[in-house]
Amino acid sequence: MARLRGVPPTIFAEMSALAVATGAVNLGQGFPDVDGPASVLDRAAAAMREGANQYAPGTGVPALREAIARHQQRCYGLSWDPASEVVVTTGATEAIAAAILGLVEPGDEVVLLEPYYDSYLAMIQMAGGVRRPVTLRAPDFRLDVAELRAAVGPRTRVVLLNSPHNPTGAVLTRAELDAVAQVAVEHDLIVVTDEVYEHLTFGGTVHTPIATLPGMRERTLTISSLGKSYSLTGWKVGWASGPAHLVGALLDAKQWLTYTSGAPLQVAAAYALDDEPSWPNALAASLEERRDLLCEGLRAIGLPTPTPQGTYFATSDISALGWADGNAFCRALPERAGVVAIPVQGFYDPSRPVSDNPGRQLVRWAFCKRPEVLVDALERLGHADLRAD
Ligand SMILES: Cc1ncc(COP(=O)(O)O)c(C=O)c1O
Repeated sequence: MARLRGVPPTIFAEMSALAVATGAVNLGQGFPDVDGPASVLDRAAAAMREGANQYAPGTGVPALREAIARHQQRCYGLSWDPASEVVVTTGATEAIAAAILGLVEPGDEVVLLEPYYDSYLAMIQMAGGVRRPVTLRAPDFRLDVAELRAAVGPRTRVVLLNSPHNPTGAVLTRAELDAVAQVAVEHDLIVVTDEVYEHLTFGGTVHTPIATLPGMRERTLTISSLGKSYSLTGWKVGWASGPAHLVGALLDAKQWLTYTSGAPLQVAAAYALDDEPSWPNALAASLEERRDLLCEGLRAIGLPTPTPQGTYFATSDISALGWADGNAFCRALPERAGVVAIPVQGFYDPSRPVSDNPGRQLVRWAFCKRPEVLVDALERLGHADLRAD
């Protein structure tokens, strides 16, 4: 299929199947193994019993749009009109898809941070856009502003950001965001920013939405997800907020995708944002402890693992154990150790030769699992022979 040519199949399906087939501890896919707040689950069940079971409005249940607007105001001082500047989507994934399909014309260029969440590539290609990756390099994964400037040209229309960043765990600094904002204003670009890990930052690291920077409010579409903030990834409730012209462009495409998303879950999502406002902060504190447990354990078995500032993920450099290729390491790991990790090279541009892939020797581990699961994984890794043959 021409529109998807060169887009590799998502690696998660292969690795999760391998985890099931081998009975391995799955630190591959990023989902928590403890559900979000019981009060929110109860609210969803009640909403179903109360009859919120038919199509919701295409833009989302009004109570949720209002709760999202209050959240953006409370957390960031951003004020959006819930009627025209907020839209509920089927997960952040649909918001990303509809934003790209609604904003990128064939031939338009999209500048994005590499490595990237894999749906970005597929959506840019489906829209007929051209990707211009800007590479974040190990071990600290900082943004190279000169590289960003060099990636922008006359056909650039969108900068697609992700911070806190999957898979590296980097959080863009204020100086990096200022540089992106300056480039966006200078070249009159739209910024689509995926902030699904907005509340999951550690050690005093502050997440700043780029929409709050001078000159950015009118050109930024901000995307987030209930799944990450409230450990309800299976609900697939996400949203976007921004000026009406950008939300409208997203809606132009979204109305032909899902049109609308699960009505009772939206009622419960509104409850989560309004009535459990500090739950994501408690989750971040507990994730920070689990991050430290995993990162220290990985270092102790000889895997250099920088400490991520946010997200669910840490990455290790496997060259220390003599491996040249993360794919080979991750395919061998379930057999050797009974653990599944994800090779990071699949998050880099697939048009690169493998030898030129900056993520070739990196693997990603998810620490959004119970401490006993992380300890089990570390014990398995500690007892296995992990050195390359
Ligand atoms: C950076 C990033 N964006 C979007 C998503 C998807 O969010 P959702 O489950 O709400 O579609 C994920 C999930 O892993 C992610 O890591």
